[in-house]
Amino acid sequence: MKFSIAAAVLTGLALVGNAVADCECGYSVNATDSEHYAVFTDLLESDFTSLSSITADTDWRPQEWKMDALKSRGQFGRSTEVENVISNPEKKKGSGIGKNGGEAGLELWARAPEAGDEHVRVGEVASSREDIIFASIRAGIKPTTVNGTCGAFFWYFNDTQEIDMELLSREFNQNKNLNLVLHSPLSLSNGGDASTTPTFQKVEIGFNPSDTFHEYRFDWTKEYVAFFIDGKRIAVFTQKEFIPSVPGKIILSHWSNGEPSWSAGPPAEDAKMVVSYVKAYFNSSDPDRQKKHQSRCKGADGPNTVCLIPDQLVPPRSDVATEQEGKPYFFSQDPLGDKVKGQLVYGNTAATKTGMSFLALAAGLGASMLLF
Ligand SMILES: *[C@@H]1O[C@H](CO)[C@@H](O)[C@H](O)[C@H]1NC(C)=O
Ligand SMILES: *[C@@H]1O[C@H](CO)[C@@H](O)[C@H](O)[C@H]1NC(C)=O
Ligand SMILES: *[C@@H]1O[C@H](CO)[C@@H](O)[C@H](O)[C@H]1NC(C)=O
Ligand SMILES: *[C@@H]1O[C@H](CO)[C@@H](O)[C@H](O)[C@H]1NC(C)=O
Repeated sequence: MKFSIAAAVLTGLALVGNAVADCECGYSVNATDSEHYAVFTDLLESDFTSLSSITADTDWRPQEWKMDALKSRGQFGRSTEVENVISNPEKKKGSGIGKNGGEAGLELWARAPEAGDEHVRVGEVASSREDIIFASIRAGIKPTTVNGTCGAFFWYFNDTQEIDMELLSREFNQNKNLNLVLHSPLSLSNGGDASTTPTFQKVEIGFNPSDTFHEYRFDWTKEYVAFFIDGKRIAVFTQKEFIPSVPGKIILSHWSNGEPSWSAGPPAEDAKMVVSYVKAYFNSSDPDRQKKHQSRCKGADGPNTVCLIPDQLVPPRSDVATEQEGKPYFFSQDPLGDKVKGQLVYGNTAATKTGMSFLALAAGLGASMLLF
């Protein structure tokens, strides 16, 4: 979690008064077929195709933890290692090809175990922010072609407050190959197996996910959790008692424990899942962030105080020039103005070169700072 500093806040407020309205009141979704319209105050956007080091990115934390076979409920334990999270930024901007070869993005590896290994070595990354409560979260993901892993994109607080999209590579030759889950006390009482609960759904997606990048997305409000692929709504859960109600974090994980009914595997060769970006628009449980939103929004007027989040309606691509062709849109990269005022944004943005970075660094914020 990051903190701003009083001096920066005062400067920011002074500027807001003069500025043309640009997203001060938040970011909205409306891609549903109903009256659903949701506004979110905070933003986290990571373009992994241009990120040279995930360990330097203060928005993300590569994970390091170990779980034995018994606890992981598989034939193998899981050894989650920082070295299995690898940044592979574009060699040439706009090429989509990483400097290490292959698709540019963040690589999460699930390694083939060697003889005698008791754990499968895997990769996982979690957002630093754990104050995410209600959100629209999107990720460009190309899972592995190697049989026997689970590619998971989820929001997590604990084992009964969790929203999950899971891609099982063993199912990539089947039609129903996206698994959607809200974990609940019911799934916990089944030993973590949600498959017999009302908030589990296997969805027919009609393509092999490992062929190319697609945008996986879920929108979470008090009333529903809706799931999308490439902007198309594919499922919704509305059971109130299963909808998470506490703040948590975003996790991307590529894992295997050899358990035949879920991840299967372990993989016979090293398997790679590539994440080209994550974009999250969310509300914060942090009173400080809430207060900042209030003051930023109060000073703003004009038609664009709430910005509509563009839908990614085609598979995302890094090697094209326009959004129509699939180039993902980032508010934090918008050439037409500063659309991330007051947001905590890590990045190679203009602000890192201004006095703000000096202030931020002086306050010990590292590379993460408040932008105005
Ligand atoms: C959703 O927003 C669009 C504009 O982006 C608007 O045209 C449409 O009427 C809205 N639909 C609903 C159901 O709110
Ligand atoms: C998860 O958190 C919720 C909300 O605080 C709590 O009610 C529930 O008991 C927790 N579940 C577990 C498995 O700890
Ligand atoms: C993966 O292996 C399992 C077990 O051998 C098999 O049932 C399944 O069809 C395989 N899946 C793919 C995508 O090849
Ligand atoms: C997010 O917070 C804002 C400001 O408090 C509120 O207006 C909005 O309805 C909240 N969004 C959701 C989805 O709850």
